[in-house]
Amino acid sequence: MGGISSHSAAERCAHRMGLYGCPLLLLLIGASVCWGECPCSDPALCQPIQDTRDFEVYVFYVGGKNWKFYDWAHVTTVALFAPYDPELMCYAHSKGARFVLKGDVPLKDIVDPDKRSAWIREKVKLAKAQYMDGINLDIEQIVFTDTPEYYALTALVKETTEAFHREIPGSQVTFDVAWSPKCIDIRCYNYTAIADLCDFLFVMSYDEQSQIWTECIAGANAPFNQTIIGYEQFINMSIDPKKLVMGVPWYGYDYRCLELTEDHKCKLEKKPFRGAECSDAVGSQVPYRSIMKNVNNSLTGRLWDDVQKAPFYNYKDAKGKIHQVWYDDPESISLKVAYIKTLGLRGVGMWHGDLLDYSDDPIAQQQTADMWKVLLP
Ligand SMILES: *[C@@H]1O[C@H](CO)[C@@H](O)[C@H](O)[C@H]1NC(C)=O
Ligand SMILES: *[C@@H]1O[C@H](CO)[C@@H](O)[C@H](O)[C@H]1NC(C)=O
Ligand SMILES: *[C@@H]1O[C@H](CO)[C@@H](O)[C@H](O)[C@H]1NC(C)=O
Ligand SMILES: *[C@@H]1O[C@H](CO)[C@@H](O)[C@H](O)[C@H]1NC(C)=O
Repeated sequence: MGGISSHSAAERCAHRMGLYGCPLLLLLIGASVCWGECPCSDPALCQPIQDTRDFEVYVFYVGGKNWKFYDWAHVTTVALFAPYDPELMCYAHSKGARFVLKGDVPLKDIVDPDKRSAWIREKVKLAKAQYMDGINLDIEQIVFTDTPEYYALTALVKETTEAFHREIPGSQVTFDVAWSPKCIDIRCYNYTAIADLCDFLFVMSYDEQSQIWTECIAGANAPFNQTIIGYEQFINMSIDPKKLVMGVPWYGYDYRCLELTEDHKCKLEKKPFRGAECSDAVGSQVPYRSIMKNVNNSLTGRLWDDVQKAPFYNYKDAKGKIHQVWYDDPESISLKVAYIKTLGLRGVGMWHGDLLDYSDDPIAQQQTADMWKVLLP
């Protein structure tokens, strides 16, 4: 995501005014009158959202217009992981939901405090120009304890939060963390400080097979026990549960099996990841909507693993190779979501909001409605 130049401002402006394809002069006139002008029919909708709600429902948006079908009665934040859509901004604000930027930067670039400040200033400026309500820091890089990057990351979170809170009243600064604070994928961050210094952490309780330390067999994307243990670890390092939002996956993993045993163990090809011999990187991520299209035509139909508390199925591809697909559905998600209350977490969210089938097919509509409904306590 680049900075704001007057060129991009003019473009955005032209877009708002429907001036694309018009002569340059008109474009320039448009830019001069509408830089900073609100794109919403009601100018009040360009105000940042001020109030907080008790239960957070956090949605990552990756593109398209399916946002129209989100459960807006409950959505509290939409994180923009896609090009800016002014219509979505106006709509989110009309529903009292925050609309926040994505923030990602190579940590080696912000070890220098001046460069860090410059990066933050640019993000605040972009958020203001787009009438947005904060930022989601999605820094998933390798960090070793006690390195310059380790301290720079903590400082980044502190300074970003201070700048946004100061410049955009009511704004929200959040930070994405792996399912556990125990250096997963070599993300050895100062988790207690980071949680303290931002509004809350979005816990990515998925990709939990990113480092397979035991037998190389396919497993659930977000096994129940492992997921809950992750939250206990955050809480045990004295992070306030109200600083934690539970992220659930709306996608699964499709693994090709080297061998499938009778008790459904799918042996995986080796693929080392950050120290572990095997990983989910041998699988491919599949949207819930595709899984729902395929599960009934698979070899097995939906099966349930009572240890990991997750559904899966086996199928044969066009070349005759056996695959195993692990995913989450309302049953597995509801078990995890029940722990939001037990542990006193701040809310729920998903990666990502655009993985469901929002078509008008009645079966798909029901499945989509069920996935949204199960998020609520
Ligand atoms: C984490 O950051 C806090 C606040 O800056 C500091 O007091 C603490 O020593 C740090 N912990 C570690 C393990 O670096
Ligand atoms: C968290 O702390 C509690 C109380 O000390 C302990 O019973 C539990 O096993 C710990 N959980 C984890 C995952 O470390
Ligand atoms: C698949 O089967 C289940 C269980 O019988 C059924 O509820 C569901 O509607 C079917 N899905 C589709 C896409 O037909
Ligand atoms: C899951 O956790 C429960 C409670 O701590 C324990 O009794 C059970 O054995 C665990 N299951 C697995 C598969 O680890």
